[in-house]
Amino acid sequence: MGDPRLLEESKPVEDFPSAGLNDLIEDMFDTMQALNGAGLAAPQIGVLERVVIFGVDSNPRYPDAEPVPTTVLINPRIEPLTREREYGWEGCLSVPGMRGLVPRLSHVRYSGFDRHGTPIEREVHGFHARIVQHEVDHIDGVLYPMRIEDMRHFGFESELFPESAG
Ligand code: NI
Repeated sequence: MGDPRLLEESKPVEDFPSAGLNDLIEDMFDTMQALNGAGLAAPQIGVLERVVIFGVDSNPRYPDAEPVPTTVLINPRIEPLTREREYGWEGCLSVPGMRGLVPRLSHVRYSGFDRHGTPIEREVHGFHARIVQHEVDHIDGVLYPMRIEDMRHFGFESELFPESAG
């Protein structure tokens, strides 16, 4: 946070598959796994393209999270399927050590393409919906602290969740 590239709107991927795109995706998975992240967007490694990845099997940073399939999503679109929002604690590899309580739509449909150009479309709830909204925010230049409504619910993970910090 503080790097101006994280506040820019990323550009759509024009041609895929490509070797460059595969390299980018591999770099993103390496980064996400090294840092125990649940998701990552290309601008977080300095590439302003509309590519996000996410997936949760069992993640020590998110012990209560439901599993989310490992997904590469290119040129994503999110369609709200409710006006209802729910609050949940989020963290971000670009805002290390912090957590904040963020409202997100509880039910969305998302679409986009995988790395081969095959269309993806899913209807999701809860944590899966939250994670995709967080990652798509990144490619629109939005970081989760910008969505916190009550700044009393923003702080250090080690203070807010001493039992899970480590
Ligand atoms: Ni993030």
